Amino acid sequence: MDAKILLDKSRNVGAVDSRLYGSFIEHLGRAIYGGIYEPTHATADGDGFRTDVIELVRELNVPLVRYPGGNFVSGFRWEDSVGPVEKRPTRLDLAWRTSEPNTIGIGEFAKWCEKANTAPMMAVNLGTRGIESAMDLLEYCNQPNGSYLSDLRVSRGAKAPFDIRVWCLGNEMDGPWQVGHKTATEYGRLAAETAKAMKLFDPTLELVSCGSSSPGMPTFPDWEGETLTHTYDYVDYISLHQYFSKKPEDGGDFLASTVELDRFITTVAGICDEIKAKKQSDKTINISFDEWNVWYHSNAGDDAAMAERPWRFAPPLLEDVYTMEDALVAGLAIMTLIRHCDRVKIACLAQLVNVIAPIMTATGGGICRQSIFYPFLHASKFGRGYSLLPTVECQKLNTKSYSDVPSIESAAVVNDEQGELTVFIVNRDITNKQNLTLELGDLVGYSGCTHIKMSHSDLNAVNTVALPDTVKPGQTTLPLSGGSISVTLDAASWNVLRFGR
Ligand code: AHR
Repeated sequence: MDAKILLDKSRNVGAVDSRLYGSFIEHLGRAIYGGIYEPTHATADGDGFRTDVIELVRELNVPLVRYPGGNFVSGFRWEDSVGPVEKRPTRLDLAWRTSEPNTIGIGEFAKWCEKANTAPMMAVNLGTRGIESAMDLLEYCNQPNGSYLSDLRVSRGAKAPFDIRVWCLGNEMDGPWQVGHKTATEYGRLAAETAKAMKLFDPTLELVSCGSSSPGMPTFPDWEGETLTHTYDYVDYISLHQYFSKKPEDGGDFLASTVELDRFITTVAGICDEIKAKKQSDKTINISFDEWNVWYHSNAGDDAAMAERPWRFAPPLLEDVYTMEDALVAGLAIMTLIRHCDRVKIACLAQLVNVIAPIMTATGGGICRQSIFYPFLHASKFGRGYSLLPTVECQKLNTKSYSDVPSIESAAVVNDEQGELTVFIVNRDITNKQNLTLELGDLVGYSGCTHIKMSHSDLNAVNTVALPDTVKPGQTTLPLSGGSISVTLDAASWNVLRFGR
C-alpha cells in the first residue's frame, strides 16, 4: 500500500511554544566539567567555557536549559556554588556518587547561558531543603538590588539580575531513588507552599510542579491527581519525564514505543482538566515535558558500578553513543510533542552535552554531533510556527507489545512569517521503502520543496569524535505539482519536507 499524508488548515493544534526545543544540563558526569567547562581546552574562552560546545548549542538554538539537575538538585546547597571560587566547598553528591567542587555554579551557568544564546530554567531543592532556600535562591537570582542576597550577588560582580522566569519545584519527587523522596501528599503540600511564597515575590514567575518520572511509575496517575489538588492554584505546569530504551530481542517495540508518549500526555492533560473542573477554576495547567530522550546504552555499565563507585570528579557517566535507530525514536518523540503543542509548552531534551546528549566531547579533544542531534536540530530550526495535525493513511505494524502502529508518522508546522511549511516524517518500517504522496490541501502558494533525509544501511551506525559524519542528513529538491508531491521514503528514515514561497 502506498502512503498518503493530507494537510488541512482547519486541523490547527495551535502555536508551537519555542520552549518546546529546550534542553537540560545537570551536574552529572562530564556534562559540566569536560563538557561546557574545560579551561585547559584549546577552544576555551576567558571563562573556561569550550567555545566548540557553545557553537553547537547555538546551532541547536535551544531557548532554555534546565539546571542544575535532575537528581543532583535534591541534595544541592546553592550557597556553595556562589562567591569566590577558591572558597567554595567540595561536596559529595549522593545522586551520582561524585565529588562536586562547585567551580561552576549559578552565576557561571547564567553567564554560559548568555554566551550560548539560551536562558536558565532553574530547579530548586525540595528533597533535602524547602521553602526558605528556594526563596533565598530566587532573591539572589532575580532581585535587582536593595536586599541582603541581591546586594551580595552585585558585590560578586553580577550587577544585573539573572531574571530567571521558569522554576522547577524539585525533581522527580515521586521516585524512591530521589534524595528526600516524598509521598504525593507530602510533596503536594510542600510544592504548593513553596510556589505560594515564590509568587508572593513575583507573580509573573512560571512554576513547574513535579509530575510522574515515567508512565511506568506505580504511583502514576494518582500522583498527578493528588499533587495538583494541592498545587493547582499556585503553579503553571506539571512536569513529565520519559526515556525510551531498547530491550534485547525487542521485536520492533523500540520504534513503536513513542505511542506511549502520546498516551502519557493525553492522560495527564485529562487529569489536569479533571482537577480544573473539581476546583471550578478558570486556569489551565499545561505540561512541561522537561526530560525526554533515548537512554539505554550506558545503563548496565553505570548501574552495576554505582554502589561500589569511589567518589570521583566528573567521571564519564551516562555517555550513550546514539545509533541511527535512536535518532528515529528521538524524531518520533519530537513529532509527538509538536502534535501536542496545545498542552506541552516546555520540553527539555535530556541532556545537552556528554550525558545522554546530542553533543559529545572528548576531554582535551574534539567534538561531534550525535545521530539524535539532527532530528532535534531540524525541529528546533523549522518547527516554529503553528502545528497542523496531518491525516496519515499508511500500513500498520504489529510489534511484540504494540499493535496497529502507523508505519509512517508525521507532524507539520506552518510559519507564516517566513512563508514556510515544514512536514516532518518518520518511516518506521525498517525493511521497506515507502512511496508517499503529500497533499497540501488548502495550503496554497508554495513553490518548491526541499527534502532533507537521514537514513543508514546499518541501524546501529553511530557518530564518534573520531568518525563524526557516519550518520548525517542529505538533501535533494522535489517538484511540486498541483498542490501535491510524491516522494520515496527510505526504510527506517527521518525526513523533513520544506516548502517555501
Ligand atoms: O537525566 C538523567 C536523570 O534522569 C536525571 O537526573 C533524573 O531526573 C532522571 O531520572
